[in-house]
Amino acid sequence: MSANGSGAGLAGASGGVVRRVAVGVTGASGALYAVRTVAALLSAGVEVELVVSEFGRRLLRDELGETAAVDALPDYLLNRYGEGVRAGTLTVHSNRDVGASIASGSYMCESMAIVPCSMKTLAGVAHGLSRTLIERAADVMLKERRPLVVVPRETPMSLPQLRNMVACAEAGAMVLPAMPAFYQGPRTLDDLADFMAGKIVSALGFSHQLYPPWTG
Ligand SMILES: Cc1cc2nc3c(=O)[nH]c(=O)nc-3n(C[C@H](O)[C@H](O)[C@H](O)COP(=O)(O)O)c2cc1C
Repeated sequence: MSANGSGAGLAGASGGVVRRVAVGVTGASGALYAVRTVAALLSAGVEVELVVSEFGRRLLRDELGETAAVDALPDYLLNRYGEGVRAGTLTVHSNRDVGASIASGSYMCESMAIVPCSMKTLAGVAHGLSRTLIERAADVMLKERRPLVVVPRETPMSLPQLRNMVACAEAGAMVLPAMPAFYQGPRTLDDLADFMAGKIVSALGFSHQLYPPWTG
């Protein structure tokens, strides 16, 4: 797998209907949410089309260590989340390549998550700027009426940031803030990340066992 090309870093899914999901990772805090989400999708047999912004790459290394650098991600996911991730495939695109497959609606990518989503990228999506591949792929989801989940992380929030979330919601995106809950009794950071990743993959239409359902 290369940082700016595409390549399958993990074994291919076995037969059946192929599900393909784009994941954008930007420079907001919460790299653990990103890797947990990618691992959950891979374990569900998904073809993951991954785009990591420049600051997203920095956040992966700063928050998770050098072993989580984009080039090393397949091994990182395998070591952290186990053999199950081999069920899917991982393709990495450069955020500068606005001509990549996922930049076109003709490419059948069923949905997209931006996790975590910086306020900068949130603004770009809200205003349809398409300056980067992440913004363009998100714009494609909106114009094609396909599911787009944005996971903003910032606190506190300015009025422009709040308005950008509203604009994304009005355009058809699901705004799913990085707000882990505590009613499941989390003990570790992984528990919190599991909760957020579970919410995200649910929103993308996948069942999961990342946290037990609330039964009242
Ligand atoms: C360590 C670190 C943490 C950051 N955390 C956040 C954050 O939580 N939310 C946010 O909106 N921006 C955050 N930023 C700022 C963004 O990374 C910055 O605005 C960047 O330009 C976003 O670009 P991108 O959307 O292309 O990744 C952080 C930056 C650094 C270096």
